[in-house]
Amino acid sequence: MMSFTQGTTQKNEEICFVLTFGDLSLLEIITVLGPKIGGMRKVCERIAIVETYTATERINEIYGIHKVAYPLIDIEQISYLPQILCRIISNQNEKLRVSLSAYCGITEVLHSEIFSKVLSVFKQAGFRHVKAVRVSEAKSNYIKKRDIIDIVTFQDSGKIFLALTRFLPDRSYIEKRVYDLTHKDSRISLSPRLARTLINIANPKRKGVLLDPFCGTGTILIEALSMGIRSVGSDISKKRITRVRENLEKMFPQSDGKFKLLVSDIRDLADKLGERSITSIVTEPILLPTLNARPSMKSALKMLQFSRTLYSEAMKLAEKVLEPGGVMTIVAPVILTLDGREATIKLDPQGTRLRNLNPGKFEPEYPIRLPFESTRFLRRAVYIFEAT
Ligand SMILES: C[S@@+](CC[C@H](N)C(=O)[O-])C[C@H]1O[C@@H](n2cnc3c(N)ncnc32)[C@H](O)[C@@H]1O
Repeated sequence: MMSFTQGTTQKNEEICFVLTFGDLSLLEIITVLGPKIGGMRKVCERIAIVETYTATERINEIYGIHKVAYPLIDIEQISYLPQILCRIISNQNEKLRVSLSAYCGITEVLHSEIFSKVLSVFKQAGFRHVKAVRVSEAKSNYIKKRDIIDIVTFQDSGKIFLALTRFLPDRSYIEKRVYDLTHKDSRISLSPRLARTLINIANPKRKGVLLDPFCGTGTILIEALSMGIRSVGSDISKKRITRVRENLEKMFPQSDGKFKLLVSDIRDLADKLGERSITSIVTEPILLPTLNARPSMKSALKMLQFSRTLYSEAMKLAEKVLEPGGVMTIVAPVILTLDGREATIKLDPQGTRLRNLNPGKFEPEYPIRLPFESTRFLRRAVYIFEAT
């Protein structure tokens, strides 16, 4: 279990975050909530407990999370659940549909034991019609409208905890956005959710200019512009830039020069942009094709060989164009090989004016690996550098 505390004089509440991208999501929470965080502990890859004001508005700017649940109670206090629920719903006679989302150390057997306890405390408290529903039915819009009451449960140091799901990031806008795009190419683009998480880490205050020097289909630019951040996109492919321009002009017709697009090899980009002119760089230089089997270490290294130059060029670019305090988040591939090892691209900021970003006292292991990726043998890892 990883934890840190930041000195704070405020009285905070413990909030449970269900993480989408493990440590990367934790970094996003820390950068967005900043000094509002009193302390934090990571229970497992999925769950982090953060001490902060529940009222903090910025929670709804965090995208790398599935759920926000509070208050946190241990199973001994389960009889308080109906009281907690009554703070957010008014009518005990209405049908109560309840789902129980289990994480960290909650086995199937434990899940059904806890679920029966939860249902029986609601019945004992006078809720007339209590029905269990599957977690898969507990879609975000139902939870938002309180049509379904979702409860998060997990184990921490041998104790079982429960918390009421209060908030989920709004995915509908993002899903609609992907659907609306004229030009898209799922083979090379990253998800809008990951793009937002990376942007939040690189530019939590949404200031200045963001650059994606390998902009591809423009996913990162679209998210940055939607967040109100002026953006520059560049790509070696003229065709890609033409398509990104069409997408952006359609999506942001009133953009008033809020974005700029360039056809450029990364090697020539620094001269076109100017020294220390960029506030944040968010980028994914390569996305290898999906692998159906683990390759040998030799062929994995061969796959990465050409890309290494692109990553070192990205480091050189960041050194030149990032303003002091500016941040680069850069995604690198991780290939799981036949002999059980990992082949990846190592980026070392030593000897440059870049250093690993370690906000607060949280020091993640770099590169930060993204857990739970659907492609089994090709994964993503993220480096985050801050310019001095
Ligand atoms: C993995 S894609 C980026 C995808 C993007 N993140 C998205 O969501 O659409 C990488 C892009 O880098 C571009 N590229 C490759 N070599 C380059 C170079 N030397 N300079 C600039 N761009 C390059 C490719 O044309 C491609 O569009």
